[in-house]
This record gives sequence, C-alpha cells and structure tokens, in this order.
Amino acid sequence: MADKQAKLELGGQTYEFPVLEGSTGPDVVDIRKLYGSTGAFTFDPGYKSTASCESALTYIDGQEGVLLHRGYPIGQLAEHSSFMETAYLLLNGELPSQQEYEDFNYTITRHTMLHDQLNTFYQGFRRDAHPMAIMCGVVGALSAFYHDSTDISDPEHRKISSHRLIAKMPTIAAMAYKYSVGQPFMQPKNDLSYTGNFLRMTFGVPAEEYEVIPAVEKAMDRIFILHADHEQNASTSTVRLAGSSGANPFACIAAGIACLWGPAHGGANEAALNMLREIGTPDRIPHYIERAKDKNDPFRLMGFGHRVYKNYDPRATVMQSTVREVFDALNVKDPVFETALQLEEIALSDPYFKEKKLFPNVDFYSGIILSAIGFPTTMFTALFALARTVGWVAQWNEMISDPAQVIGRPRQLYTGPVERDYVPLSER
Ligand code: ACO
Repeated sequence: MADKQAKLELGGQTYEFPVLEGSTGPDVVDIRKLYGSTGAFTFDPGYKSTASCESALTYIDGQEGVLLHRGYPIGQLAEHSSFMETAYLLLNGELPSQQEYEDFNYTITRHTMLHDQLNTFYQGFRRDAHPMAIMCGVVGALSAFYHDSTDISDPEHRKISSHRLIAKMPTIAAMAYKYSVGQPFMQPKNDLSYTGNFLRMTFGVPAEEYEVIPAVEKAMDRIFILHADHEQNASTSTVRLAGSSGANPFACIAAGIACLWGPAHGGANEAALNMLREIGTPDRIPHYIERAKDKNDPFRLMGFGHRVYKNYDPRATVMQSTVREVFDALNVKDPVFETALQLEEIALSDPYFKEKKLFPNVDFYSGIILSAIGFPTTMFTALFALARTVGWVAQWNEMISDPAQVIGRPRQLYTGPVERDYVPLSER
C-alpha cells in the first residue's frame, strides 16, 4: 500500500487512490482502478498529465532543462561518451567496462550488413522517394527476413533483434540516400566506428577511398547521442503501443519511424532549416516573429517550443557549440547560422515567447550542422530515426520485461449520436 493517497469526490462519494513516488520527478496518482471503482474515465488528450508506464531509462525535468540517461546528464554524455557507449548504457542500465564496450562494438559491427534480397527492395521505390518513406518500408520488411529473432518472449531473441536494428539502421539510412542520388550502395566497413562507417556509406563512392574527417565524425556521433532517447515522446509511445500487442520489434520500430516523420516531432529539424533559409537574412526576422505570434496565421517558429521543456532544451546548448566546431573543421560559412542566432536572441527577449516559455529545442541548430556536413534536408529525420532506434529498442525491451505490461487501450469521451434506427436509402 502506498503511503500517500489521493482523494476523489465523484457523485457524492469519496474514492482513494494510491500515489506512487518515482526516484525523482512528480508523484503519480495510480488510477488503474478508477473505472472499476467509479465507472468514470479520465480525459487527457495528448497525455499532458498521464504517465503511461514505469521506466528507469530517461528522466527529464522540463522546468529546469535537465535530461538524464540512466542518471547521467546529457551534457556529460555528449562531451565524454560515444554513441555506442550511450547505446550500451540505455540498453543495459550501466556504463560498460572496457571488455563489455569492445564486445558490444564487435557485435554491432558484425550485424551491419543487410540480407542481400533486401537490397532489391530499394529498386521498388521511386527515385524521388522521401528517405523516411524508404525507412518505414525497409525497417518493417526486416521482420520478413529475421524470423530467428522475433519470439518476443525469449530475451535472447529480443537482444539479437535489438542489436540487428541498431546495427542495420545506418546501412538502411545510407542506402536510402544513395538511392535518391543514383549512386551505388556502399557496403559497411568493419574497421570503422559506427558513425565513421555511416559517413562512409553515405558520402563515399566505390571509385575512391573515403577518408573520415575526425571532427565531423565526432560531431555526428554527438548528434546521435543527443537523439538517442527522450522518455515517452510520441514515437517512443507509438513503439510501446505497437509492441504492447505483441508485435515483432521490426514492425514496432517501423511504427515509431512513421510517427517520428511528422513536422511536430522528428520532421521539425527539416522544417526548422527550411524556415531559416526562407527567412534568409536577419532583417526579415521581425516579420516572421510577428507571423509566429499571430493567432490567425498557422506559422510557428520551427525548432522552438517543446511539450516538456519549458526552459532551454539542454540538447540545443550542445548543438549550438557543435555548429561552430563543424564550421571550423570544414571551413564553412553559412549565413543561416547568423540568422538562427539572431532569431533566437530576438525571440527570447519577446514577451510572447517568454510568457509561453518557448525556447529553442534540439532541432533548431541540428539542421545547420547536418547541412554543413552535406546532408540534404530530406535526410535529417532519417538520421534522427537512426539514433532514436537505440531509445526505441531499449524502451521496447523494458516494456516487454515489465510484469505490469498489458496491451495499450485508451478510452474516449464519446460525443457522437446515441443509438438510433437505420433508415433505408429510399426513405432518406
Ligand atoms: N511558435 C509560435 N508559437 C508557439 C510555438 C512555436 N514554435 N510553439 C508553441 N506555440 C504557442 C502555441 O500557439 C500555443 O499558444 P496559445 O496558448 O496561445 O494557444 C502555446 O504556445 C502552447 O502551444 P502547444 O502547441 O499547446 O504546446 P505543446 O507543448 O502542445 O507543443 C510543440 C509543443 C508541438 C513542440 C510546439 O511547441 C511546436 O509546434 N513547435 C514547433 C515544432 C517543433 O519544433 N517541434 C519539435 C519538437 S522537439 C522534437 O520532437 C525532437
């Protein structure tokens, strides 16, 4: 029995519900028995006040701008860790020892190739297909190839399918890019790092050696760390909901990719860079600020605002400094960065953005870096999906191992017609 109780008065009766405490963060009123005892549902569109599960992976304090993975602050991971190490941490709960790290790297590296018949899938897409369309299709299709790892009740199957997903995602994303530019697919090369390998598969060509630029590799790896997991966001909740029915992990991750594609979620980095390019020069910023504030104009400042962060997104801070590192390493000068910096300054001093606590999110600067590295905007969300696959599979594994897990099935507030009799067509 929980120490704290919440009381609810409904229809002249008082009901008590346990209040659960996490290791940190807000308390949670356990209303699992609400319907059974009161006959009422809660109403919470968008789940603004609903904890859908118990999780020990990621903690966010949106008011303070804090993001922790297994307790480690994102800033520390971005500075000192690698994407592979962060992936191990999210999957296993602790940072790896040297041996565990090497073993994990080895395993992931040995799963990067695709089944050869999967290569032919790509030819079925139109040349101008959006990489996310290809990702949804090809990742979902993995379930047709890896029957030996889809028994979700077997922890070993879950482990192998998780490793396969993390390992194959860079190959799938790079091939989506290669297909769109009409270049031959590049096969993985095992002596490169996870991120270096991805850069080579994306930008290398068989006709010559590809040299990974260390600063770019580091920046890209850091971008992957920043996107690795983010608690119960829309795409992660989609993966969990799809997985709650017992669907295989490849199908669940394909569902997550579909959700991530939207401009209010993963598509925001593409939309943010497009917006910055449309604004063009700093003198046009006030016009766009006015549009963002106008209730009758659907325009929003992309890369601004967040459902959870009501403070500076800690990932945006790291992104902003990474822009400078990449620009220096590649000797790039892009006026869009100046526009972004000024837009941020103007927006943050504007009462509208202050009152609504709208701050730059992770997507505001990421597009500028990705563009400098050479990715077209259509690849941005695919890169996000690649990195988030780590969080999705970790969350999916956590859910399947949770004894309290049941199929997700929200209820509704019905406002349609009450029961009525069918009227034949001739009488209508
Ligand atoms: N520009 C202008 N106004 C905004 C913006 C914005 N970017 N974001 C929110 N607002 C305003 C809304 O108009 C609303 O105003 P109102 O109270 O007068 O009606 C208020 O702020 C609250 O907005 P909601 O949409 O209710 O806030 P919510 O927390 O549900 O939305 C969201 C968060 C969807 C991210 C929103 O801020 C947004 O659309 N931002 C732009 C898209 C974006 O950058 N998405 C990336 C999210 S991060 C990620 O997925 C990795």
